[in-house]
Amino acid sequence: MSISSFLTKKFLKPLFFPAHNRGNALPKGLIKILKKSPGLWDLPELPEIGSTLSKNGLVAESQRSFSQIFSAKRCFFGVNGASGLIQSGLIAMANPGESILMPRNVHTSVIKACALQNINPIFFDVEFSEETGHYKPITISWFENIFKNIDIKKRKIVGVTFVSPYYQGYSTDLDPLIEICHRNNLPVLVDEAHGSYFLFCENLNLPKSALRTNADLVVQSLHKSLNGLTQTAIIWYKGHLINENKFIKSIDLLQTTSPNSLLLSSCEESLKDWLNENSRLKYQKRILEAKTIFKELIDKNIPVIATQDPLKIILKTSEIGIDGFTADKFFYRNGLIAELPEIMTLTFCLGFSNQKDFINLFVKLWKKLQMKAKNFNEIKALKPPFELIETPEVEIGLAWRSKTYSIPLSESLGKICADIICPYPPGIPLIVPGERINKKRLNWIENQSLHNEDLVNSYVRVLYN
Ligand SMILES: Cc1ncc(COP(=O)(O)O)c(C=O)c1O
Repeated sequence: MSISSFLTKKFLKPLFFPAHNRGNALPKGLIKILKKSPGLWDLPELPEIGSTLSKNGLVAESQRSFSQIFSAKRCFFGVNGASGLIQSGLIAMANPGESILMPRNVHTSVIKACALQNINPIFFDVEFSEETGHYKPITISWFENIFKNIDIKKRKIVGVTFVSPYYQGYSTDLDPLIEICHRNNLPVLVDEAHGSYFLFCENLNLPKSALRTNADLVVQSLHKSLNGLTQTAIIWYKGHLINENKFIKSIDLLQTTSPNSLLLSSCEESLKDWLNENSRLKYQKRILEAKTIFKELIDKNIPVIATQDPLKIILKTSEIGIDGFTADKFFYRNGLIAELPEIMTLTFCLGFSNQKDFINLFVKLWKKLQMKAKNFNEIKALKPPFELIETPEVEIGLAWRSKTYSIPLSESLGKICADIICPYPPGIPLIVPGERINKKRLNWIENQSLHNEDLVNSYVRVLYN
């Protein structure tokens, strides 16, 4: 089968990203051009369009207009996902040899930018819930304690990055954390890949968008949390702690010279769509419906976990002794396609289209899964064994570029890792280049990999002694 023939395959109920639900919630402006003669819209950077970095042209005008509307100094569309823009943002904050303070549960794109630019990641640990197997949002006292235990100057820390909301929808109260960073003259990049729509729902009692805080850079994934096409994203630039020229150069550094015109248009159309009152009200209705779906599932005694993102339905499969990966396969076989399997849970993304038929199918399959779960196996999520504050033993860029050899992970004890060990999803690295593979980390992977095929029998590149 060719890729193209698979693309039109029908699934009974696809509840994965992109959040436009296979076209059902795409912006009208985009649907209009997609209905025209195929490929007509695939244009190069003609002078009328320009690109994200041009001074003139439709893209520049559109970016300028959104910056004004949302009181940002600048914004840039991205056609390489939130990943590409997060990487540009980090490179704008730190030079090679400097450090960025970050939670242990950052997305892998952050680590790759560190390896590329030889920025030292200074990791701080994050509280973990053994009830759910998920990281908890960072509290002020937790972050204050991190600051107490760290010498900013000695570590050459020049910036901080946060993730909020997490993949599952847990959201952090960013204002006080950003204030602590700014008090120390440190700029902040917020990875809000999963929270773009919060910006348009200030009346719905959802978390405050990072763009409404004093964050210096905010990156949003327009395909995960708005209704854009896959790969579309936006970065917002504010404040005075990051040099504007350096920021623009960093965007340029990682930008293709041929940005896809359809994706650029999608960036514009998805934001415009949410600024349009009629569309926004329609999507807000979906969000309220999602809250009702959650309540109905609770009423039916289905073990779902609440987060601040109503569009994420998190099923706690461990309640019936089934891990999220096994449950994922079961739901997939039955046509209900989820987004994020983890040890204790399986997360479904409702997206922005109507999901009225979801509950019946979901409840029916849940009952079927319950019947299968006759012998109860206790599923435990162990906290990853990270130190409160740690940084790779060998510089990340050096480890990434060193001569290496490949060995089974199970034989790698004591070696310095050159790879990013990172099951996807959720794309959170367990070991990064330059870290020593110690007993605790290896035991943890061995224990938790029983359920995760990405980790089983994997090979790893390590440095020669
Ligand atoms: C927290 C977080 N940040 C960033 C990204 C990257 O987003 P994108 O797929 O748009 O590059 C992801 C993707 O899973 C993510 O979960």
